[in-house]
Amino acid sequence: MDKSVEKFIYGLNGEILVPSDKSISHRAVILASLAKGKSIIKNFSKGQDPLSSLKICQSLGVNTEFENNNLIINSTGKLLASTTYLDCGNSGTTMRFMAGVLAGQNFNSILIGDESLSKRPMKRVIEPLTLMGAEIKSQDYKAPLEIFGKELHSIEYNSQLSSAQVKSCILLAGLQCDGLTNFSEPHISRDHTERMLKYMGANISANGNTVTIAKSDLEPKTIEVCGDISSAAFFIVAGLIIPNSKIILKNVGLNPTRTGILDVVKKMGGNVEILDKKEISGEPVGDIKVEYSELKSCTIEGEIIPKLIDEIPVIAVLATQANGTTIIKDAQDLRNKESDRIKATFTELKKLGADIEETPDGFIINGKTKLKGGCDVETYHDHRLAMSLYVAGLICSKPIIINGFEWVNISFPEFEKLFEDLKSPL
Ligand code: S3P
Repeated sequence: MDKSVEKFIYGLNGEILVPSDKSISHRAVILASLAKGKSIIKNFSKGQDPLSSLKICQSLGVNTEFENNNLIINSTGKLLASTTYLDCGNSGTTMRFMAGVLAGQNFNSILIGDESLSKRPMKRVIEPLTLMGAEIKSQDYKAPLEIFGKELHSIEYNSQLSSAQVKSCILLAGLQCDGLTNFSEPHISRDHTERMLKYMGANISANGNTVTIAKSDLEPKTIEVCGDISSAAFFIVAGLIIPNSKIILKNVGLNPTRTGILDVVKKMGGNVEILDKKEISGEPVGDIKVEYSELKSCTIEGEIIPKLIDEIPVIAVLATQANGTTIIKDAQDLRNKESDRIKATFTELKKLGADIEETPDGFIINGKTKLKGGCDVETYHDHRLAMSLYVAGLICSKPIIINGFEWVNISFPEFEKLFEDLKSPL
């Protein structure tokens, strides 16, 4: 689907409820499937990625139904062999998490994915799982992954990558092992898995960048999923760069391992404020008020990178509107996401007229630039590219056409409707 986006000059105004967190939804359905009894997941994401995790849990014998917008999971706590391939679609989170779960079962499974997922690196999970005694066959460490269920043993693993997907995979495997499994990473990545495992009664503790888990039975729970800060990010950036904007984003997850974008915006002089902070199902949540601001450049590097990894394409859009040179570095793993997000963001923002340079691990962006637009841009089958380009389109002098805009459905089917609400708040 091609989407035409035009400059919007009147300012975004009003309040929107940010849709359900994709990361937390994956964890909720997978952990509830491992807990014996009835769990209720409120506000489960309608994105295609979490639905891939849900479908896989169903194929593994877990009973699920939607009841008044709640997802009810009834599980015996034991998974059953699937008679079909387990299709992770476009979702790296589903594949890496399920590899950790399935490696320790007493049956075999095959995980498959779409064209993009089949090109993404799985060595990062196959290697540590193999050290735990797993048997996983693949070609060149890429999907399909043929998993031969084995009894796993605990390990101490020092990951070279700061990745919540790798960490969660090892924790889900460690949950099934006798002894203590330790996982450490250079910088702390999002800790939703640790929080939810704790909330469901697992024997888990964290000390700095190291997490330790022991074999545990999970308790079924009611889990309320908060709004996704990675979805809120597109509105935060749009509110900051479209003159006369003043918006409130309600019910956004504010887990400190995800709020790197707020730290960066503050550093750039952006007007953002947190209102009404509370805790829901073990996660901090609040409302974010954003107003149009004059911005200055900054350097984004090091330990903040995992805290804003998914927001970097839209932060690049933001940087085009900040005075001075913004440098983003240490983000080389962006090249292994749904697309090579460094190359894709650089290529498409350049077409729009940005003063942007690609580096091996990020970008150098000079601002403030008037984006000219008046061209077609590509999404590279990547939902975050599609949404970042939409935001850029709102400030381009001439309309742009985004080819492949339907990829937004991977995480955020309501995306455009919410923008329309803020364009005409009455
Ligand atoms: C995710 C972790 C991140 C992120 C992805 C979702 C998660 O990946 O990019 O969109 O839910 O754990 P990495 O942990 O591999 O960086």
